[in-house]
Amino acid sequence: MTAASRVACPETLRWSADRQAIEILDQTRLPEAEVYLSIRSAEEMAAAIATLQVRGAPAIGVAASLAIALDAARHTTLAAPAFRARLREACDLLAAARPTAVNLAWAVRRMRACAAALDADLPAGVVACKLWGEADAILAEDREMCRRIGEHGLALLTSAEPQLLTHCNAGALATAGMGTALAPIYLAHAAGRRVRVYASETRPLLQGSRITAWELGRAGIDVTVVTEGAIGALLTQERIDAVLVGADRIAANGDVANKVGTYNLAVLARRHGVPFYVLAPRSTIDADTATGAGIPIEHRGADEVRRGFGVLTAPAGVAVFAPAFDVTPAALVDAIVTDRGVVRPPYDFH
Ligand code: MRU
Repeated sequence: MTAASRVACPETLRWSADRQAIEILDQTRLPEAEVYLSIRSAEEMAAAIATLQVRGAPAIGVAASLAIALDAARHTTLAAPAFRARLREACDLLAAARPTAVNLAWAVRRMRACAAALDADLPAGVVACKLWGEADAILAEDREMCRRIGEHGLALLTSAEPQLLTHCNAGALATAGMGTALAPIYLAHAAGRRVRVYASETRPLLQGSRITAWELGRAGIDVTVVTEGAIGALLTQERIDAVLVGADRIAANGDVANKVGTYNLAVLARRHGVPFYVLAPRSTIDADTATGAGIPIEHRGADEVRRGFGVLTAPAGVAVFAPAFDVTPAALVDAIVTDRGVVRPPYDFH
């Protein structure tokens, strides 16, 4: 039995037993409740992505591809031109659900290309069947790329009992597999090593404390939540062997867009001589965007900050600066781990 086969992760998304719906674990309810939602259309999936019920760069790409396949299967009674028009509408809707994670655009592009490669007058049922196969392939590839990232990343965890810091959630719940930044952690734990993880809380939606701490704790991995304001103190007082984070988009020069607060962490890590590693699949690399300055950054509603989980946490009308992501310059990134291996600076992903 390999270490990878011993890793038991929560299922982020899956087909329903009758394949009439996609079931997603509603991440807005964690850690209080473990509830799966049934998604039956492109519109419902776009809304689930926009509201972060399903989130994380690779996961939203997989979710969109499954939704396109499902939506196509539900419109096979249409004549070929009307079916193609509906397919375009579903793809446009899903691609626009969130702007920063390039995996979403990548997965939708792949589904469009799958349909475009088929004769325009083929019956809708045949096209839908091909799209179904493509979505299943994207799902299976995502699981496999997580395992590979984990194996490559494991080589960077050189201390016998690694103590690591991570931000947001780049774990199983951000993918269809065992995650990206958390994949080497799962593998080290499955191999019997003692691993300690500090999960940065991640304001304002708390993906670190709500989701990362939940999934690591569930797997029996030693996890401690740290508020973002306490990270400087943590790095001053504790031995941290490495910072491991995911990415939503990596520009051709290695600049990394990830959950807001990642840049702060990278600056602090450099100040304290702690290696800062980014783990992401090749589909997160955007060779068409030269530098981080060209990455579109999502800004979310001010009330996510003003009304943290329904409680007034700032004056009701106060102005808020609320980017969901920031860009860490390539100069602060010690290595980028993809499913193909470990890349060190200088980065050139053209
Ligand atoms: O807004 P979110 O929760 O979708 O942000 C997620 C992140 O920033 C993750 O770190 C990133 O998508 C990498 S997931 C493997």
